[in-house]
Parts: sequence; C-alpha cells; structure tokens
Amino acid sequence: MVVLASWVACAAAGLAVAQQVRFEVVGDAIPAALTSEPGDAARGRSIVVNRDAGACTLCHAVPGERAFGNIAPTLAGVGAKLSSAQLRLRVADSTRVSPDTPMPAYYRTEGLKQVAAAYLGKPILSAQQVEDVVA
Ligand code: HEC
Repeated sequence: MVVLASWVACAAAGLAVAQQVRFEVVGDAIPAALTSEPGDAARGRSIVVNRDAGACTLCHAVPGERAFGNIAPTLAGVGAKLSSAQLRLRVADSTRVSPDTPMPAYYRTEGLKQVAAAYLGKPILSAQQVEDVVA
C-alpha cells in the first residue's frame, strides 16, 4: 500500500511537470501550438531582444537591433525559411535538431545540467512566450 501510494504521488508529480512542458515532435517540428491563445508577435519581439527573457540577441542578429552576438545564424528571414512548426521546436528544444548546439532549450525541464535550485522544473520560457516568439 505504501508502495502504491508513493507510485501515485510520483505519477501525480510527473503529470504536473509533463503538463507544464508537453509537446509532440514530428520530424524536425512541433506541429501543434503549445497554447490555445495565438502567439503575439509584438510580445514575442520583446522576449527575443530582452536580456532578462529570451536574450536571443546574445547569439543571433535580429533585424532592428544594433547590438547582437554573431555565433549563430541571423534570424532575419528565418520565418520564411522555416515553418512555424519548425521554429517552435527550435525555440522549445533546439538540441532535438542540433544535439551539440549552444542554444538553450527554452521549453524543457528534463535532462538539463547545472540548473539553479530556484529554476528547477521550470522552463526558461512559458508555453505562451514560446508561441509569442514563434509569431
Ligand atoms: C547561446 C547562443 C544562442 C541563444 C541565446 C539563442 N540561440 Fe538560436 N541558435 C544558436 C545557434 C548556434 C544556432 C545554430 C544551430 C546549431 O547550433 O547548430 C541557433 C539556431 C536557431 C534557429 C534556427 C535557425 C536556422 O536558420 O535554421 C532559430 C529559429 C533560433 N536559433 C532561434 C532562437 C531564438 C528565438 C532565441 C531566443 C529565444 C535563440 N535562438 C537563442 C544559438 C543561440
């Protein structure tokens, strides 16, 4: 009975995490949006350029930004090159596309190294923020 109770507790804890960061990868993409609310491109842009949020400009050039890193391909025109589904996977967990990438997995909580206690179990971006960035 104790075993069963702890299994149920673990399953419940697992479910809570799984609900937080659940998505299905098909090929090199996540076809289904992570939220029912569509992404908001203006909010997404501020996440992309904000150092406290996505901080994508640490590595990527982004049109309209003057300060950016250059260790990654420019994001100019990436929306025409990749589909929303492909962008969603690259933002959520780009290691699924390039295993050795230095790009953070923005929507993953498992298998990470050196996570500060305050951030354990939390993705860097919320599901809605991922959708905003994709937009
Ligand atoms: C620490 C550096 C770093 C940060 C921060 C970073 N990326 Fe990346 N990203 C990369 C690198 C490097 C690649 C090239 C893929 C690889 O590593 O093989 C890449 C690839 C991509 C691609 C695929 C580009 C293509 O042309 O195929 C997209 C889209 C992307 N990143 C979006 C983002 C967004 C959006 C953010 C912020 C939420 C972000 N990246 C933050 C390093 C970074």
